[in-house]
Amino acid sequence: MRRFEPTREMEKLKRITIFDTTLRDGEQSPGCSMDLDEKVRIAAQLEHLGVDIIEAGFPIASEGDFRAVRAVSKECRTAKVAALCRTTEKDIVRAAEALEKAARPRIHTFVATSDIHLEHKLKKNRDEVLQMTRDSVRLARNYAEDVEFSAEDATRSDVDFLCAVFKTAVDEGATVLNIPDTVGYTLPAEFARLVGTVKEKVVGGRQVSISVHCHNDLGLAVANSLAAVGAGAEQVECTVNGIGERAGNASLEEIVMAMAVRSDKMPFETNIDTTKLYPTSQLLSSIISFGVQPNKAIVGRNAFAHEAGIHQHGVLSNPLCYEIMTPDSVGVPSNNIVLGKHSGRHALLSRYGELGYELDAEEVSEVYARFTALADRKKNIYDQDLLSILPSRVTVVAMAA
Ligand code: KIV
Ligand code: ZN
Repeated sequence: MRRFEPTREMEKLKRITIFDTTLRDGEQSPGCSMDLDEKVRIAAQLEHLGVDIIEAGFPIASEGDFRAVRAVSKECRTAKVAALCRTTEKDIVRAAEALEKAARPRIHTFVATSDIHLEHKLKKNRDEVLQMTRDSVRLARNYAEDVEFSAEDATRSDVDFLCAVFKTAVDEGATVLNIPDTVGYTLPAEFARLVGTVKEKVVGGRQVSISVHCHNDLGLAVANSLAAVGAGAEQVECTVNGIGERAGNASLEEIVMAMAVRSDKMPFETNIDTTKLYPTSQLLSSIISFGVQPNKAIVGRNAFAHEAGIHQHGVLSNPLCYEIMTPDSVGVPSNNIVLGKHSGRHALLSRYGELGYELDAEEVSEVYARFTALADRKKNIYDQDLLSILPSRVTVVAMAA
């Protein structure tokens, strides 16, 4: 038994694709809106983190979203960039236009499949939804080789109809079938069964992968995502800090670390550099209007803090007593230097270094002036405060920790 530490010598594990939707599902939730520069900055950080696919926005929704998808498409060279669209022609064409400069574009089209949504939102019958699926995936394939199809509210849909819709999407060339738990309703064992059914009835031997997209209304988004991976899903959709509609989306850092720490029971791996999880979380918190709660798993301020005497004694004797992963493994800086108005440039620079940023002399002067002004006003300076005063041009991320 040992605490988790990243190693290159792990046995061969099944590779799970991490699809990040912080800039789309996350950004569309209250308090999370970002401007274009901020979105590009987050996208660059996500690429450094090792995310496979970045969903950059919903281009038809607004001019801002369109421009953001275009800018992120230009920025990202290794990660795929996805744009969301409904099943209408104008949505798909707009998404394709926004992705024009992407090195590795993905069009992500969706339609609801539950009777509740069909009756009350879409006002369509099942045949019409099948036709919308057929037309949209066919059209999207004219613009991109990689087309993801999502059945919104899949977990409250009739399973036979859901499978019929998915079959139609695959027949038209969809490369990924996404099963969203749009309202955070499902339970782990039930969701695993649904993934198994779709794999058996729709995928068969065909070249299409299964994705899951879970919301956290019952606090089960991560558990449901992991159950789905256990049942054969190859892609997980998630957001940094779990931001997203209502109670949020599945948290990227929790999914990645659960797979990393418990690879004995979940033989899966991702491309994520886990030492960049904390800096990424802090960067997002510095941009949107709220941070994570102190007891948030993996990236919360107290995630590696020990207060009770009995715990402190145990951890001092051997960290293994109360820590299942090292702070270093997720990029939490190990020193306890508290930054305040009496701190000097050296301590400040060292903290930026731990967060993965290297500043040149001019940047140091600019940031130090901002830091002292902030420290005059604010008693506690957190890492997210330090990131919020960095000039936006400082995006170079060195190895953290
Ligand atoms: O929650 C959901 O159903 C979505 C889809 C658009 C994938 O965000
Ligand atoms: Zn969603």
